[in-house]
Order: sequence, then structure tokens, then C-alpha cells
Amino acid sequence: MPETLQAPPSDNSDLSDKPHPLIPQPDHPIAFLRGFLERPKEVGSIIPSSRWMERRITRSAEIAKSNLIIELGPGTGGTTKALLQAMAPEARLLAIEINPDFCELLTQTVRDPRLIVHQGSAADIQEALTKHDLTTPNAVLSGIPFSTMPKELGLSILQSVKESLAPGGRFVAYQFRDVVHTLGKQIFGPASIQLELLNMPPMRVYRWDMP
Ligand SMILES: C[S@@+](CC[C@H](N)C(=O)[O-])C[C@H]1O[C@@H](n2cnc3c(N)ncnc32)[C@H](O)[C@@H]1O
Repeated sequence: MPETLQAPPSDNSDLSDKPHPLIPQPDHPIAFLRGFLERPKEVGSIIPSSRWMERRITRSAEIAKSNLIIELGPGTGGTTKALLQAMAPEARLLAIEINPDFCELLTQTVRDPRLIVHQGSAADIQEALTKHDLTTPNAVLSGIPFSTMPKELGLSILQSVKESLAPGGRFVAYQFRDVVHTLGKQIFGPASIQLELLNMPPMRVYRWDMP
């Protein structure tokens, strides 16, 4: 049963606009590693995204001009805080995370009234939107590992993204392997692709634009 965790207000003043070094990662690397050890296929990586990757996906998804954003797989919240920092004051961010421990950590540590943390599957975006009385997002971002999930689930998540996005909206997925692109071509057609080298491992960033 999906569950909602609403974050109380606060600030993200620890965030800087400047890229930070790749190591150390300030966003709960131990909790992230523990999450990987407990649920390796779902987490798919032993460390969170770098600050450089956070900046790249934030820019690629044009977060500053989006009024409703969905993040699939926020993990321990580094990418979430980067999105919040780039978002307009009146925008909303719905973070859909399957791991209850990560949801709890996000709720406790990323305190911003624009953020809604939703425990559930990325395959059920419409259910989450309805539950929180939200309409269609302009941007969906995903860091979830498509290469370690069944193909049917991957296609179901991508279909869920397509059905939820507003006309003119965009879907940005960042991945080490190209499975998301192989599957995404079936749902959206070919993506535009960037490479972020300043991440461990280096990752591709795929962007699809809705008509
Ligand atoms: C590689 S981590 C990305 C974390 C963070 N966004 C970052 O870039 O550092 C992948 C995240 O996706 C979550 N996840 C995996 N499958 C999911 C699903 N079906 N629905 C929602 N979240 C999922 C995992 O629990 C994990 O937090």
C-alpha cells in the first residue's frame, strides 16, 4: 500500500551552486550503501550521483521553467535537493521512491514545503498524482536502474511516464547502461543523449520530448 510522507518546511542552505568534488559525497553515502546492500537490484549503484550529474540532469530537464516535476527514485536525496534548488518558488516536486527507508530519510532530511515524498512504484505515477491531487507534470526525471529490473516492469514504468506527462513536457533518465534507451525507443522513439563523465561511473543522460 503506497504511503505518503509530507516534509515539514525548512531550508536547503547547505547547497551551493558550485559543483562539489566527486568524493566525498555529502548526501548520506552510508545509508545509500546500506540500501544497495539490502536491495541491490532496486538501488543499482553503490554511491549517489555526483554534484556534476545533479547539475546536468537539472539543466537537461529544464527544471527552472517546470511547475510540476516528478522524480522517480530519489534515493537519499542528493538529486532531490538539486531539483528543489533549481525549482521556481511555486513549483511542486513529487518524489516517488519504492524503498521505505529512503522515504523516511528524505522526509527527515529534505525539508521543503514544495516536496511531496510518495512511497510507491514508478509504474504507478497516475495513482500517485491522483492521491496528491496533482495534475500533469512538465518534467519527469528517473535514476532508477532499468538494467536490473524485468523488461515488462521497465516498459510499464516508461508507459506510465508517457501517460502522465503534459504536452511539451520532457522525460530525462540517467543511466550507466543503455537498457532504458532500448526500451524507451519502443515507447517514445529515439532520445537525445548526453554523457556525464564526472560521475562514478560516467553516465548517459537520455532526454525525450513530448509532442
Ligand atoms: C541509483 S539510485 C538513484 C538515487 C538518486 N536519484 C541519485 O541519483 O543519486 C535508484 C533509486 O531508484 C529507486 N527505485 C528502484 N526501482 C524503483 C521503482 N520501481 N519505483 C520507485 N523507485 C525505485 C531505488 O530505491 C533507488 O533509490
